[in-house]
Amino acid sequence: MEGNLRILVTGGRRLEGQVKISGAKNAALPILAATILSNDSITLRNIPVLRDVDTMLSVLNTLGIKVKKERNGEIYIDPSNLKYFEAPYELVKSMRASILVMGALLSKLKKARVALPGGCAIGPRPIDLHLEGLKRFGAKIDLEKGYIEAETHGLKGCYIHLEYPSVGATENLMMAATLAEGETIIDGAAKEPEIVDLACFLNKMGARISGHGTDRIRIEGVKELRGTIYKIIPDRIEAGTYVIAAAITKGDVTVSEMNPSHLWAVTTKLREAGVWIEEGESEVRARVLEKLRPVDVKTLPYPGFPTDMQAQFMALMAITPGRSIITETVFKNRFMHVDELNRMGAVIKKDGNFALIDGVESLSGAEVCATDLRASACLILAGLAAKGDTFVSGICHLDRGYERMEKKLAQIGAKIERIE
Ligand code: EPZ
Repeated sequence: MEGNLRILVTGGRRLEGQVKISGAKNAALPILAATILSNDSITLRNIPVLRDVDTMLSVLNTLGIKVKKERNGEIYIDPSNLKYFEAPYELVKSMRASILVMGALLSKLKKARVALPGGCAIGPRPIDLHLEGLKRFGAKIDLEKGYIEAETHGLKGCYIHLEYPSVGATENLMMAATLAEGETIIDGAAKEPEIVDLACFLNKMGARISGHGTDRIRIEGVKELRGTIYKIIPDRIEAGTYVIAAAITKGDVTVSEMNPSHLWAVTTKLREAGVWIEEGESEVRARVLEKLRPVDVKTLPYPGFPTDMQAQFMALMAITPGRSIITETVFKNRFMHVDELNRMGAVIKKDGNFALIDGVESLSGAEVCATDLRASACLILAGLAAKGDTFVSGICHLDRGYERMEKKLAQIGAKIERIE
């Protein structure tokens, strides 16, 4: 029974060795959604084996798109049979990123019916920026019975100013603009590497996008997009998680097949804390050669410190003696892991979107429960450093975003296993 699945971590072991990073979950999901826009088949490489990827593949299947996982990790997509335009509630409720099919469906089929994504553990997460943006293209948007009903006679390019650099809204609107008539400008756009990867993929299919990676993206609508072969970028959050695993166990780990420049906000903070970071072409080596120092962190849109690394960094600060302050500015309620860390002996006080951490010498293993994807990683990292055994439940969250985490950790010396 999945609900009884737990991870048992026995702490106190230094991690040493090399970890290979998988493809980025948050690049794979929008790029899979973007295959809706293509007239012919696509091969995607470096797609990670994750539950969220399987959910997105199920959404594409529901729309009539043929998907095939090849043995070598490639995914073959044939969108030529696309004929439905509805992303059903049971899929959207299990993964809010299903909303990313809306812009592509509207652009390709001129219709979309997508269940409203519920909230989730890390806050309400509205989609007003997505919907307001689509209306700017001339789409008619109605909300009824928990579904978004969207339709158009044909999207017209437009000027959109995003009042917040929402990653999902930027992706949805960029996809909608690719087949719209005329030019679209998205001002105040998100600049994450995953946005750049999506734009590069769309351009490889024949889209005309420029400015991706800056806060002004320009898209010139084209008539159609053709098939291609594309390899997605490595996962910067997975990479950052293993760099912190090295730091929290005072180990010596090389994280490879990744892009160091995507992680600069995190490695800069870790250097400030005293972690020894060496960067290669496509790898980062992390070692602890001295006593670590507490540092403050404030999460921000890229290139700021990523919110998806906040929980992992908090685990490290929890056992770094001294006072540090973590400010979460992106999500309203992304401190669910604080209470669980405190059950392991951490001394952390929440105050609105601040967490005040008084680092302790050591944590002790306990039974803890993960509430979201990055909280799962945080609690496993804490377990690696704690005295004794830590049992982490809520592992379904972990499998959404980390490929074989316990195997990758065991390979570098962790005592960790999955138990019923
Ligand atoms: C993406 O979520 C990522 N998910 C998240 O990663 C990541 O934490 C987030 O970007 C920020 O970097 C995927 O890419 C699949 P947003 P998204 O729209 O697109 C508010 C993980 O752990 N907002 O940038 O949902 C929203 O409530 C996940 O891998 C609106 O108010 O993030 C939030 O407070 C977690 N209205 C903030 O903006 C909107 O219309 C950032 O949201 C949209 C968003």
